[in-house]
Amino acid sequence: MVLIVGGAGYIGSHTVKELHKKGHEILVLDNLVHGHKEFLKWGKFVNADLENIKQLRSIFKKYPITSVMHFASYINVGESVTDPKKYYINNVTNTLNLLNVMIEYSVRHFIFSSTCATYGTPVSIPIDENHPQNPINPYGQSKLMIEKIIEDYSNAYDFSYVSLRYFNASGADQDGEIGEWHNPETHLIPIVLDAAINKRDSIEIYGTDYDTPDGTCIRDYIHVTDLADAHIKALEFLESGEKSTAFNIGTENGYTVREIIEKTIEITKREIKVVETGRREGDATTLISKSTKIKDTLKWEPQHSSLNEIIQSAWNWHKKLNKIE
Ligand code: UFG
Repeated sequence: MVLIVGGAGYIGSHTVKELHKKGHEILVLDNLVHGHKEFLKWGKFVNADLENIKQLRSIFKKYPITSVMHFASYINVGESVTDPKKYYINNVTNTLNLLNVMIEYSVRHFIFSSTCATYGTPVSIPIDENHPQNPINPYGQSKLMIEKIIEDYSNAYDFSYVSLRYFNASGADQDGEIGEWHNPETHLIPIVLDAAINKRDSIEIYGTDYDTPDGTCIRDYIHVTDLADAHIKALEFLESGEKSTAFNIGTENGYTVREIIEKTIEITKREIKVVETGRREGDATTLISKSTKIKDTLKWEPQHSSLNEIIQSAWNWHKKLNKIE
């Protein structure tokens, strides 16, 4: 049985759906603080918090868990700067609780949701897995700390892991059953879609004086279903006895903020008011992955990550979520 911690969240729920399609036995653990009960469609569910070690022990005792995928974390970079305690307690201490209970119960495989934010300000583009990891905010630090801890754990205990360093997760399930639903929302595509449906007045572009062709930041947008598929391949990789490692997951292509807005206008056929404002603190100019390692090792290829499919699927979901015809 695979335990999916944070399985009621954005990337977790998409991975749960793909695991279910492949016939895996699933247990979702979520405290439903940011996860959505509406996303609990597949497998068994337990409402629990990683803070509670006793509760964790009883779950590992009750269910025949053989692998864990860990999606639950706080992800708001700005908030991590103003409230680092929240990030270190949730993303580090609570993950340590999970790891320690896993080891007590001899659970051997761990798939960890890491991030390109662990690289910090890039010194070279595209970014491969050997790029130095110097995070520039507590969010990225908290993810890197867990990467280091699981490396030490795997050296000392009978335990293997894959850290998946996501670039910009985006898009939604092709069937429209689940999608991106954060509160508050800070990510570009759902905010642009909010502006398209007049839920927000406008989209603010954070900085137009970057050293890029149109002055706005470049990101590597990867469809959430492609991320989900990478998790399943990583799980099979560990189950077949392969060694612990880390992989980037991105498309190796970048789009500017303006390109995202233009494509959204084209797909939604709606007017979107754009306001140009100053830079957001902590934003890197360009983040583009080199994802050769995961392609070669796991035979993974993005299948849904054209900008069209990303924005079309996000739009379909956004309309459904906001009850728009
Ligand atoms: N942006 C705007 N206006 C907005 C929102 C975003 O111009 O209203 C710009 C940002 O400045 C950035 C780009 O759009 O240039 C993408 O921003 P997102 O907030 O959508 O995503 P980030 O690139 O900041 O994502 C980063 C890391 C992820 C990490 C995430 C945490 O790349 O790994 O922060 O939420 F998970």
